[in-house]
Amino acid sequence: MTLLQPNTPWWQSAIVYQIYPWSFQDSNGDGIGDLPGIISRLDYLNGSPDSLGVDAIWLSPIYPSPMHDFGYDVSDYCNIDPRFGTLADFDRLVSEAHRRGIRVVMDLVLNHTSNQHPWFIESRSSRTSAKRDWYYWADGKSGRRPPNNWAARFGGSAWTHDPHTGQYYLHSFLSEQPDLNWANPAVRDAVFGVVRFWLDRGVDGFRLDAINWLGKDTSWPDNPRRLAWRSYYRQIHRYDRDQPHTHEALRALRSSLKDREDILLVGETSSDTSGGPAAFYGNGSNELHEVFDFRLLRSDWHPDTFRRLILDSDRAVPQGGWPPVVFSNHDQSRHIDRYGAGGEAIRRARATALLLFTLRGTPFVYYGEELGLRDGRLRRADLHDPYTIRYWPWKTGRDPARTPMPWDDSPQAGFTTGRPWLPLSQAWRQTNVAGEQRDPGSILSLYKRLIRMKKGSNALTVGTYHPVDGGPPECLFFIRETLVDGQRDALFIAVNFSAHTQKISLQTVHSELGRTGTLILSTDTQRAEGPWTADHFLLGPDEGIVVSVA
Ligand code: NOJ
Repeated sequence: MTLLQPNTPWWQSAIVYQIYPWSFQDSNGDGIGDLPGIISRLDYLNGSPDSLGVDAIWLSPIYPSPMHDFGYDVSDYCNIDPRFGTLADFDRLVSEAHRRGIRVVMDLVLNHTSNQHPWFIESRSSRTSAKRDWYYWADGKSGRRPPNNWAARFGGSAWTHDPHTGQYYLHSFLSEQPDLNWANPAVRDAVFGVVRFWLDRGVDGFRLDAINWLGKDTSWPDNPRRLAWRSYYRQIHRYDRDQPHTHEALRALRSSLKDREDILLVGETSSDTSGGPAAFYGNGSNELHEVFDFRLLRSDWHPDTFRRLILDSDRAVPQGGWPPVVFSNHDQSRHIDRYGAGGEAIRRARATALLLFTLRGTPFVYYGEELGLRDGRLRRADLHDPYTIRYWPWKTGRDPARTPMPWDDSPQAGFTTGRPWLPLSQAWRQTNVAGEQRDPGSILSLYKRLIRMKKGSNALTVGTYHPVDGGPPECLFFIRETLVDGQRDALFIAVNFSAHTQKISLQTVHSELGRTGTLILSTDTQRAEGPWTADHFLLGPDEGIVVSVA
């Protein structure tokens, strides 16, 4: 089907799949995923009749790194970590992906480098080093106290004392991740050079890490305090994030890419960013194309919360910008575990999938969610991520959501011939690609159906979103539609957030769609699809449906 607006940028009709390279596919038996492994699994993603059907992959960082933060501590922006392969492997990945209609989005970590990056090693070497002001250095207060009270996102002070030069350096995350000084034009130029390096290798976009952190108030005022459990939230991050200077940097980045408007820039901001994540769209055409809104990754399974957050984030996107839709990533417990613990978990994961592909925006699928992969039940001895270890066992942390992709029920789930770096998630013998490919009722089959449905529908790709009121409060109703030359293409979507059957009257749908519809998809495998003629419809517990005008 040809989309009504053929000139829309590619990402507006794309499905993006996030690969956590450590865990997707190992090719050399060292227990760690790698680029040749990813290449060997591309057919699963697109290019064959059985594929999932995604249009782009976003690779979490694959640059050389000491891996204190699993690649988000980059020690060389223009190379590949030997654990994952070589630049030649990367070039092959790009061409093999492109051959299958899959674009490649790199993770770009701009706020900080590794403390092993040559820039930082030089910066740290003396107070007069040529790269001293590529990072933030400041004198401490008397009595060996840091320059101010700023807290690091992963715990403790954001300042570390460097005995060699007697000053403190700033790090918003781990002490191994010093923050780059974005007020320095030399830093900007060097980073824009990195962007060109990857564009020349054929990449199609960048996911910009922790982007609201770039600018800092370098008069170093203390952040105001507030009451909270963890040190990071015991202050309002007024001066260390969300600074006007960040917007200047993003505008400069966007204008440096004037010749490449086909490149996706999607940014990550914190969910409590002041002004909301949408601030980083700028005026809609001068900062980022897409900005993640993580509030739905922190919400409970409640229709009021979903109603409010969906509408809020949809309305906040300025003309020219485009919303991403995401429920899981490598930093959070998987949504199947967040939204339910018992028998309802899989039902809710199915309903969430329906939302992922029917809300307005680019769906981002986190590897394994299409299988209903659960958080791994890990022991303390299994953990690798310093943040997970620090708050263990009070907080689930991130390692449980990073376990290897289960491909089949062979030993180590077909992920590796060696010992996987993290244990497999417990139910891999039931939850794996091979088994679910064969099962038309599996969550993988549902993802495929939803992806094909979205791609074949103008309303679902480029249509407007508007909420429908008047149904049972336990349900979320909305319409996606396009209107071209008087021709209306409309879909009615309903999700039941309760454990009880809810009655929807045909009248509600009728008054929205103008006439009776056809049920084209339900998340309940037992439900018969087809014309909807009765005067009401009983929506099962956590069931989601899509109804179109026949
Ligand atoms: C956000 C990334 O998603 C996360 O994994 C990382 O630890 C921090 N930014 C720091 O780079």
